Amino acid sequence: MTRGSPGWLGDTQWRDYGRKLDLWNAFAGPELRALLTTLVPPTSRLVLDAGCGTGHVSRLIQDLLPQTSRVFALDLAWPHLVSARRRLCRTLQADLRALPLSPESFDLIWSANTLHHLPDPVESLKEIRSALRPGGLVAIGHGSYLPDMLFAWDSRLERLTNEAVRAYYRDRYGRSETELAGIRAWTGRLRQAGFSAVTARTIAIERISPLDEDASAYIQECLFDGTFRGRLSPYLSPEDDAELEALMDSQSPAWALTRPDFHFLQTFTVTTGRKPGPA
Ligand SMILES: C[S@@+](CC[C@H](N)C(=O)[O-])C[C@H]1O[C@@H](n2cnc3c(N)ncnc32)[C@H](O)[C@@H]1O
Repeated sequence: MTRGSPGWLGDTQWRDYGRKLDLWNAFAGPELRALLTTLVPPTSRLVLDAGCGTGHVSRLIQDLLPQTSRVFALDLAWPHLVSARRRLCRTLQADLRALPLSPESFDLIWSANTLHHLPDPVESLKEIRSALRPGGLVAIGHGSYLPDMLFAWDSRLERLTNEAVRAYYRDRYGRSETELAGIRAWTGRLRQAGFSAVTARTIAIERISPLDEDASAYIQECLFDGTFRGRLSPYLSPEDDAELEALMDSQSPAWALTRPDFHFLQTFTVTTGRKPGPA
């Protein structure tokens, strides 16, 4: 298919982390739906979800638009596209580094938590720009890299945990601190790629105890079991590591998710830009 590695976070045509994507979208679904309601122009006739994953947002966008509008869900990974198709999405397998799309055809291109996976996000934004009609809108959604609040009752352990996760990611992907920090620099990248009227808007996804099932499942499976547990020991003192393990262990009396003071906060930023030209 296409040249070189598809990105620096390990994505391939066959890589499947659909379960994580389903958990995130179920968790953040109410906020994402509300955000899209204000963001998606009702006159959009042709829309692309670039890096659609399992197609949750593609489906939300389609449901906001008249039946005559068409939403295409594009991704590199076949396993994700199979799930997207089950959500009644029109799917397209393609690489965002070289989009096989007619120029100047889409009214809106949405892309969430995807372009930072690519080796050169600005090049991919230029591909997106070329597929947009003049005056068309691009919207790049990006969750905060780590939760903004995780252990509200102990900011020291929260800070150390976040630092340990960053160090773990740097080692896992062989990336520098600057590269990881640059993940959120979308306003500058949109301008570099030739978009005008750039805006940014951040929403908060916030949950307190008692947690509902979607929040428990996302925080436990994606964050605790899928990212933190058993991986952070090299970056923490033995005492902090033991305390953190107990907080993340559903069998422990110290399990964070049943504490009455559990308070979780994660931000999600959408950066938009317009392709210059008549609307
Ligand atoms: C973190 S997921 C986000 C999925 C979805 N937007 C969501 O928010 O649930 C990133 C997605 O980008 C896809 N992806 C990674 N590199 C890609 C590329 N070069 N071209 C197209 N899709 C790519 C992955 O397969 C994955 O589905």
